[in-house]
Amino acid sequence: MTLQLGDVVPDFTQATSEGDISFHEWAGDSWVVLFSHPADYTPVCTTELGTVASLKPEFEKRNVKVLALSVDGVESHKGWIKDINETQNTTVNYPIIADEDRKVADLYGMVHPKALNNLTVRSVFIIDPNQKLRLTLTYPASTGRNFDEILRVIDSLQLTDYHQVATPANWQDGGDCVVVPSISTEDAKEKFPKGVTEVKPYLRMTPQPNK
Ligand code: BEZ
Repeated sequence: MTLQLGDVVPDFTQATSEGDISFHEWAGDSWVVLFSHPADYTPVCTTELGTVASLKPEFEKRNVKVLALSVDGVESHKGWIKDINETQNTTVNYPIIADEDRKVADLYGMVHPKALNNLTVRSVFIIDPNQKLRLTLTYPASTGRNFDEILRVIDSLQLTDYHQVATPANWQDGGDCVVVPSISTEDAKEKFPKGVTEVKPYLRMTPQPNK
């Protein structure tokens, strides 16, 4: 069954490059970005995993753990990590799941046989501290992902969970926000003391409340 936003994500125990993990226990009170890639020792994946390692401080600032997955084994992952560190000038300091039996890939629907036979496509799952699924993305093997976009979505999710706003197209942290439709403009003016601009009765903007 396809995972849907709001579902509690499936738990699993699987080997990783940093030892076995039981997913829900490992996730604890953190947000998680779980992302799959097709295979070890492939060029686009090498750049992706290096990029995520470089961005690890940004994920940590947001209380996010990162967890990669491919269907290769632990020894393969360990050898490839050396190449990633060498070529991407970084240190991969997060686990890569060795999903040789495709247990996790099947649970999360990461194998799309019509796109990539028997290998995982580039899936992304953003999971909140209640272990609920908050975003999914699926990219083809030929397109490396934009991890700045994933950080941007996390900023939006963490903001909109606590304030009655939504974030408009191409929003970046610090930018103006949309007042959610369930609040009247009158109530919004009280709730958002920095000001509310009514562009249309259904389109009200306010400065980001937590900045
Ligand atoms: C890559 O990571 O470079 C890649 C993997 C599978 C197919 C195409 C590209």
